[in-house]
Amino acid sequence: MPKYDETFLKELLSSFPDWFKNEEEFSEARLEKKYYPYTQLFSPIQINGIKVKNRIVMGPMGNISMAEEMGRPANKMIQYFTERAKGGVGLITSGLIPISQNIDPTVTELGDRSYFPRIDRSRTVFAGWRDLAENVHAFGAHFFIQLTPGLGRVGSPESLLKKYKFPVSASWNPNFYLPTVPCRPLTDSECKKIIKAAGQASADAKAALIDGIYLHGHEGYLLEQMTNPAFNRRKMGRYADWQAFGLDLVREIRKRVGPRYPIMYRIDLSLALNATYGDRMNTVSTLKKFKNERTIAMTLEYMGNLVKAGVDMFDVDLGSYDNWWLPHPPNSMPSGCFLPVSRLVKQYFKENNILSNAGFPVPVVAVGKLGYPDLAEKALRDESCDMVMLARPLLADAHWPNKAFAGRVSEIRPCIGDQEACINEFVEGGHPQCAVNPRTGFEDVYAADLPPVERAKQIAIVGAGPAGVIAATIAAKRGHKVTLFEKQDRIGGMLVPGSQPKIKYEVANYLKYLENQVEKCIQDGNLTLKLGREINPAELKQLSFDAIITCTGGSPVHPKITGLDLPHVVQAVDLLRNPELATTAENVVVVGGGAVGCETAHYLATEMGKKVTVIEMLDAFMIGLCTANRSHMIHDLEKMGVPLMNYTRLKSVQPGTVTVDQNVSSTVPTPYNTWTPLLPENIENPLAKPVKQQVEEKVLKADLVVLALGLRPNTSLYESCMQENAAPQVIQIGDSFQIRRVFEAVKAGYGLGRSI
Ligand SMILES: Cc1cc2nc3c(=O)[nH]c(=O)nc-3n(C[C@H](O)[C@H](O)[C@H](O)COP(=O)(O)O)c2cc1C
Ligand code: SF4
Repeated sequence: MPKYDETFLKELLSSFPDWFKNEEEFSEARLEKKYYPYTQLFSPIQINGIKVKNRIVMGPMGNISMAEEMGRPANKMIQYFTERAKGGVGLITSGLIPISQNIDPTVTELGDRSYFPRIDRSRTVFAGWRDLAENVHAFGAHFFIQLTPGLGRVGSPESLLKKYKFPVSASWNPNFYLPTVPCRPLTDSECKKIIKAAGQASADAKAALIDGIYLHGHEGYLLEQMTNPAFNRRKMGRYADWQAFGLDLVREIRKRVGPRYPIMYRIDLSLALNATYGDRMNTVSTLKKFKNERTIAMTLEYMGNLVKAGVDMFDVDLGSYDNWWLPHPPNSMPSGCFLPVSRLVKQYFKENNILSNAGFPVPVVAVGKLGYPDLAEKALRDESCDMVMLARPLLADAHWPNKAFAGRVSEIRPCIGDQEACINEFVEGGHPQCAVNPRTGFEDVYAADLPPVERAKQIAIVGAGPAGVIAATIAAKRGHKVTLFEKQDRIGGMLVPGSQPKIKYEVANYLKYLENQVEKCIQDGNLTLKLGREINPAELKQLSFDAIITCTGGSPVHPKITGLDLPHVVQAVDLLRNPELATTAENVVVVGGGAVGCETAHYLATEMGKKVTVIEMLDAFMIGLCTANRSHMIHDLEKMGVPLMNYTRLKSVQPGTVTVDQNVSSTVPTPYNTWTPLLPENIENPLAKPVKQQVEEKVLKADLVVLALGLRPNTSLYESCMQENAAPQVIQIGDSFQIRRVFEAVKAGYGLGRSI
């Protein structure tokens, strides 16, 4: 019997940190086809008045900056969705579309400009939605619009500085980004206006040929702030009842759209803040307020009431902004992480005979790292869910459904869970893209078919990291004759050490995908791969290429610090390539708390059983990474007892120890803060407290010292080729041009491969 109480959460969350030790579960996270043909995945399903052709739902992903300034979906957005419809998905959902302009000051910018698409403005925006819906319908897919009452406390606190308006919430709640900024409670009259606006937006959506309404009730956004006692601590008025806002909202929408129009609701089974933070819920001032979160039993009861009010279907996840790695599970989370959640809800609906108003069992959609056809099919077969939602997997490969249906599973380009180009891109001010799929968000710019070459060039590409491999395979597919040189015995560059930790299984899958792509181009006759071959400028010149592309990567930084030349000092990338370097060590100090340092520390602690400490001279760890990825890693390292020392500088290394200087002032922020995000570099925090200096020298035990201090570009091959005029065209991309991420490397490789 499932447990409908909080022990379920504790058990689920405690299974996450070392889930990969379960070989059977781990084997599901592969692009294989044990269960092919996927009969369940490709069977239709009735949702109130519509029949969806298969069980695949494209998850909502904010269409930030994909609409014109006044909110009309732009061609970029229309082509992005059209491509996913073409790729075979049955039901597409938009990203969040606010309907509380003029009430929630964070959903628009100064001058009423909007980075979200809008539907609240009648004719000015309708044409975009109509074109979008019609394009999607042309491929037999349905389209739901995700309406959100607003962002509330998770909106930008800049509304206070720029518009002199407090962000809003259900009660006085701290803003997520700057907890010192309070969010004021909405009045009942404002709540009613939002509900009216949602009804109007729904009627407009129906008129604009959109097939259903999808409500954004999860992750601690404004709808959840109103419908979860963690955030809604109102004492008076209609909405002091934490269910009332959601139920009124659904009733109003149902009234406006009629009985057969689908309404879907996105909910988290629990914020899971108590299960995540335990005692911290009593000590951290931001979290203290949220202790009284909706329990599982309360959520299930609320879901039953939502059905009575008019909801036809749910998708269910866990978590909120304050433990962001749950609703946005990063690479370090297990595949299919929320299947137990949808299974529990489905079981509850069955036991309680909960049927929709149209008389159907209420479908439950599972979400969270389900981008493996075997896993998705199995989840449907074992009745863990009725549909599977794929968000990032469809950014990585819009044609996932068609490839799964046809059994071309090894051709699916896997998501690597880095969230660099999808979520992080809009935190930085961009629109959704994808690190491994350079066409995502550029379907309006790059045609699907590669332009064939007029004259085949002989091209040398030196370095088979992601930039080199993508440039080589794209150029070869267009008809160029490409020779790819790699000095290692395997392609992949930094992806090879980067995929060594088991939590980086998605990178290992991507590496396999790249190997398949290279193999295919070799078989097609346009690519020659020379592994284990270091080539020099003179040889390149002698081979008379039309173009040379250097992608020679970067080399680890090795600062001048006493003792760094001792034999027990190794580079993180070397250790990940040769884990036996750590075999005899007991105490390890990792120097550098960026992504590589922290992932290496996690690997050493979980897979090699070492006692690890990470030191970082800056204020925080993993700066620049997506908040979800960063905070999950920090949370897990803390749970494993890996000390993280910020404001700590390496002074010297001796046999068996390292000496460091640490700022021990009480003003130094805790490195374990995972409930408040780091602000992007270009945003100044006017309320930041200064950090005082109180430096203490410390000696740490270390029989292995691992350096993770970053890379510097290897530019020498490029420079020599230029000096020696080794070919008419010499171009440098990837880390040898600028040390960046997979995202930039792939983008450069694709752009160049497409145009050379
Ligand atoms: C770029 C991006 C934007 C997202 N925006 C939304 C959103 O607008 N509304 C929403 O409910 N969830 C949003 N999510 C969460 C996803 O819908 C989904 O729940 C999450 O990515 C886990 O599913 P996946 O593993 O299939 O990606 C977003 C996720 C990503 C990656
Ligand atoms: S950017 Fe990364 S996480 Fe996001 S969809 Fe692409 S591969 Fe997945």
